[in-house]
Amino acid sequence: MIGAPVAEPRRRGRSVLSGRPLTFSAGAASRLSLEVSFEEGAVLPDGAELQWVEIELAQLVRLGRCRFAAQDGKKEGAAGRLLFLDEVYDCRILIRDGRLMDLRGFFQNLPLVLLQRERIRPEFKEHCARVVYDLAVYKRFFDEQDRIIDEEPADVAGAAREALLKADGRRFLGFLDEKVRELDALVHDYTYEEHERHGFYLRRLLWPYLMSGKILRRSNLKPQGYAGDAEMMIMVYENSYAGRTVFDQLMHKHAVETAAAEAVRSRRRLVPRVLREVEERVGDPGPDGFHFLSLAAGPASELEEVFRGPGDVERFNLTLLDQDPVALDLARATVRRIEVARGAALSVRYLQQSVRTVIRSRDLGSVVGRHHFVYSMGLFDYLSAPVARAVLAKIWEVVRPGGTLLAGNFHSSTASRYHMAYWADWSLWYRTEESFLALAEGLEYSSARIDFDETGCQMFLRLEKPA
Ligand SMILES: C[S@@+](CC[C@H](N)C(=O)[O-])C[C@H]1O[C@@H](n2cnc3c(N)ncnc32)[C@H](O)[C@@H]1O
Repeated sequence: MIGAPVAEPRRRGRSVLSGRPLTFSAGAASRLSLEVSFEEGAVLPDGAELQWVEIELAQLVRLGRCRFAAQDGKKEGAAGRLLFLDEVYDCRILIRDGRLMDLRGFFQNLPLVLLQRERIRPEFKEHCARVVYDLAVYKRFFDEQDRIIDEEPADVAGAAREALLKADGRRFLGFLDEKVRELDALVHDYTYEEHERHGFYLRRLLWPYLMSGKILRRSNLKPQGYAGDAEMMIMVYENSYAGRTVFDQLMHKHAVETAAAEAVRSRRRLVPRVLREVEERVGDPGPDGFHFLSLAAGPASELEEVFRGPGDVERFNLTLLDQDPVALDLARATVRRIEVARGAALSVRYLQQSVRTVIRSRDLGSVVGRHHFVYSMGLFDYLSAPVARAVLAKIWEVVRPGGTLLAGNFHSSTASRYHMAYWADWSLWYRTEESFLALAEGLEYSSARIDFDETGCQMFLRLEKPA
């Protein structure tokens, strides 16, 4: 369950000022500065310069020169901020993860990074150069149209923008599709290492354009630490022209119209259908009703289709598990919308846990409950075979006799996979039918099969447990 907010972490530190030893506790005041409280009655003048400070991580780490800024702009104080004068430390990572990261350390790797360009295939360089030039030309055109449209009254501007998106915008989306096909043809035989290197190269050249598309920006910057977070799922479900300028809107729209994005939308329709089939197979679920679990639930948008009427609200008990509190907040919002629409409260449990921890539980049933139906969409694509096998085996334990497990995974032939990896920096574990089925080897099921969604990109492994 989601608990109370976790207190901001702090670390102990020490320094010396004019020969006097100082001790303090420190938190992150901002990304680049520390907030400190000196101990043992020490009061420092505002602007005092410390030649060094040491912070207790796994071991004592020495940071460079810094200036003390007393709290609330006072002339002196026992509390305030430390501003570093020679180095640029990531103070959040320092305090939270206990890791020293000098943001300027980047320059140490620079020669190596720059040399990467010598290891790019000439035809790939040529492809990127053409794409960059063409994007620059298109952007200039659309920006110019924006400028003209902006001077019009609101209703005229609205109509003109819509016409532009429909006509020239569609042509531009067609151009992007063509570039994606060119990319596929160029890279489909590359080794893993070549994909990494060439993807990195493409993203450096296309960076300003990638930052224009809302979803491309998020997948590249990864504010949650990985691509494919719940916010991105919402963008995929909305499938809209999000963005400030017409060019931004088109860059976003293209990325949410790919085959993989369409498959994400289609799997949301498939889960409720399978759930009803499972319900029929189970028959009488017993006195405590029908229980189901979504593993890596994200915003749980498929629930809108699950809870279609008052009977569904009464029958179903659900558990939503996700590692990310933001994802669970979005799931709560989905549940609230359904509750308002149906005029009744759902029986829901929210579990903020990683499947990586969950699989270490001795008695998983006591943590996540036991379920007639367990499904997981958009999780196995992020797990290597050994982890995926362990997760599947463990979660199989909480499927009740006669119940079903349904897991999704993108197929290796997914048309937009190189676009995702190269443009969005969003890499997945794509699988074949054989490698997906192989994850279930050793489990005692009465039937195992692979189905495809209507796009043909998304596979579903469906395992049924003997009654
Ligand atoms: C691609 S989204 C899919 C969300 C949802 N199932 C859907 O189809 O819309 C992936 C979700 O998996 C969650 N996730 C990723 N790794 C996880 C892990 N190890 N344990 C639990 N949740 C995880 C993320 O937080 C995110 O909400």
